Amino acid sequence: MRLSILAPLAAILAVANGNPMGRRALAIHESVKAVPAGFAHAGAVSPAQEITLRIALAQNDIAGLEAKTYAVSDPANALYGQHLTRQEVPEFVKPSAETVSAVSEWLSENGITAKSISPAGDLLQISLSVSKADALLSTQFSTFTHIASGKTSIRTLAYSVPVSLQSHIQFVHPTVAFVPPLSGLPGPRAAPSTNAVPASCEDIVNPTCLQAMYGIPSAKATSSASNVIGVAGYLDEFANSVDLGLFLSNLRTDLVNSTFSLQTIDDGSNDQTLDDAGIEADLDIEYTVGIAGGVPVTFISVGDDSVDDVDGFIDIVNSILAEPSGITVLTTSYAFNEEDLPISLAVGMCNAYMQLGAVGISVLFASGDGGVSGGQPTTCTTFVPTAPGDCPFITSVGGSTGLPPQVAASLSGGGFSNFFPTPTYQAGDVAAYIASIGDQYSGLYNTSGRGLPDVAAQAENVEIAWMGSFWLVGGTSCASPIFASMIALVNDRLIAAGKPVLGFLNPFLYSPAGRGAFTDITSGNNPGCGTDGFSAKAGWDPVTGLGTPNFNLLLAAVGL
Ligand SMILES: *[C@@H]1O[C@H](CO)[C@@H](O)[C@H](O)[C@H]1NC(C)=O
Ligand SMILES: *[C@@H]1O[C@H](CO)[C@@H](O)[C@H](O)[C@H]1NC(C)=O
Repeated sequence: MRLSILAPLAAILAVANGNPMGRRALAIHESVKAVPAGFAHAGAVSPAQEITLRIALAQNDIAGLEAKTYAVSDPANALYGQHLTRQEVPEFVKPSAETVSAVSEWLSENGITAKSISPAGDLLQISLSVSKADALLSTQFSTFTHIASGKTSIRTLAYSVPVSLQSHIQFVHPTVAFVPPLSGLPGPRAAPSTNAVPASCEDIVNPTCLQAMYGIPSAKATSSASNVIGVAGYLDEFANSVDLGLFLSNLRTDLVNSTFSLQTIDDGSNDQTLDDAGIEADLDIEYTVGIAGGVPVTFISVGDDSVDDVDGFIDIVNSILAEPSGITVLTTSYAFNEEDLPISLAVGMCNAYMQLGAVGISVLFASGDGGVSGGQPTTCTTFVPTAPGDCPFITSVGGSTGLPPQVAASLSGGGFSNFFPTPTYQAGDVAAYIASIGDQYSGLYNTSGRGLPDVAAQAENVEIAWMGSFWLVGGTSCASPIFASMIALVNDRLIAAGKPVLGFLNPFLYSPAGRGAFTDITSGNNPGCGTDGFSAKAGWDPVTGLGTPNFNLLLAAVGL
């Protein structure tokens, strides 16, 4: 209703400016019904304030890229391992000439210059005043507060684009996205450990324990520069070199001289003041450098110079696509709740991760620490899947614990997406699990959604060095770097044997050979939303996926 009042106003402004934009028929492109829970309207925003918006353009042939990505990632396909080059991917995702000219014409009519911020030109960025943005999108931006954090943002409940452009524009962001600020996964679980040397892997898990539990070799990798693990860092969580040195000199003395390199995006940095070390960043670096011995690790620190946290996620992808960095595995221990993202944005992110899969990069995300309630324990009336692990092109890593045979870590995020349908590679597994629970939790989760996690690894009592001393942390934040390290070590052996790296993992993991490399977890559950959550069972389950990896069986599964 507000929009029908605003639309004529925009037309009047246009005439006053001698600007023809008001003549185009507009239609609402995206909207939310009301201010989402957890946010409050906080008043008007100054019309002169500058804002930055991103316009995601329709991609030329995303279905074609999807087919190619599956073909090169499926061991049963003749094209397996024949990853696309960085030059081939933009052919699929670049917008059509018609899209580019239609959108450019609209922007130039409005005196707006856009810059492309993705290698394929499918993502444009514009900076303009709020009054101009209001007129362009026939809307009224205002200020909203995220109540719990006090963080404010400029958003709107609905926006329009010209009818003639609806098929050319996927979404404009940030507009109707009300995303709570990202939170690191393991922070609150940290507790001091008095002992730098493990007494028992039941209580304190360190690299030696993981080597024993999952068969991880201590021999150093040899193929170096062409096989790099990227560790995504957000929220000014800095990875500290002194902490890494302390960790290695106590727990991986054979790797004592190993370091990591730094890449910064969006004005990111990596302050080395010991008191500014981040728990998450230290954990992620220690359990990549300290597990994947000899594999180069790059800490990718994303700063604040992006419009919001979601943009930082997409910027990492575009930066990796733009420049060859040797990254073959990307691990991220931060997550959103799926329900907090507009579906347009979730799909846009997923299509970006698909591009990484197409060029042969394995993308791993921690599945969340709130069991069936999502990223963190929260009150909920229906189960909450996490994003972007809900994207079928990502390998979602859940949590396990205890001495072998391991059980599910109760924090392990898991469930079923409401945005992405069950992909073919796990269709039989998901159907079998859902059949096994009958109508338990009926209505609390989506029976046709992508199931997550895909696999699991240690997620409790993990020993890290942080701010100069040793601590125990828990969370699927531990599991993702551990599994990423194992994949990088498999890649190292593949490269040495003259074979392609693994790339997008899931079709391989769920293949008969791939699933054979996992120890099924059949005990434990992931409570949340006032329920006991799902139970781990024989076969895939939405608590621990296919189970925990075994390195030698992974080698056998890839034919080494
Ligand atoms: C670490 O570097 C020092 C100095 O170069 C060297 O003496 C030592 O052998 C190295 N240690 C390992 C385990 O590589
Ligand atoms: C359940 O998932 C399907 C497949 O992704 C989707 O089409 C449907 O909208 C979802 N249902 C709900 C209630 O979100």
